Amino acid sequence: MSCQTLPVAPGKECTYGEAADGPLKVVAFLCNWCSYAGADKAGASQLPVPAELSVIRVMCSGRIEPTLILEAFQKGADGVMVLACHPGDCHYKEGNLRAFCRAELLQRLVPQLGIDPKRFHFDYVSAAEAEKFSRITNEFIGQLKSAAP
Ligand code: FES
Repeated sequence: MSCQTLPVAPGKECTYGEAADGPLKVVAFLCNWCSYAGADKAGASQLPVPAELSVIRVMCSGRIEPTLILEAFQKGADGVMVLACHPGDCHYKEGNLRAFCRAELLQRLVPQLGIDPKRFHFDYVSAAEAEKFSRITNEFIGQLKSAAP
């Protein structure tokens, strides 16, 4: 079974692969204290931020359960990003380390579900890294576009 055959709703299937006909849908879970602030700074600095991103602001990347990421894919996301505070900077001490471990697990799990692991990206972005936020989000979107059939 591939993602393209996963039912996402009655009578509807995952739309990955139809991206050539429309904009990509990318869900980005951003930690409030770091990557969300970095995204905000990127916007304020007028750095290029992909319009395809649907941002979900969370208080800590440790809040992102793997089921939330899989649900985003199941509901038709072409890609999912989790952006966390750098190691040692998590406001809740080890939430980002838990998120990193979950990301490692997901990278191994998603191929079993027919999802290309390149459609999931975990990274660290601080509040001061607006340029990094702009660069990695644009690179991820570009990678998804080049992988779309
Ligand atoms: S507070 Fe940012 S990852 Fe935990």
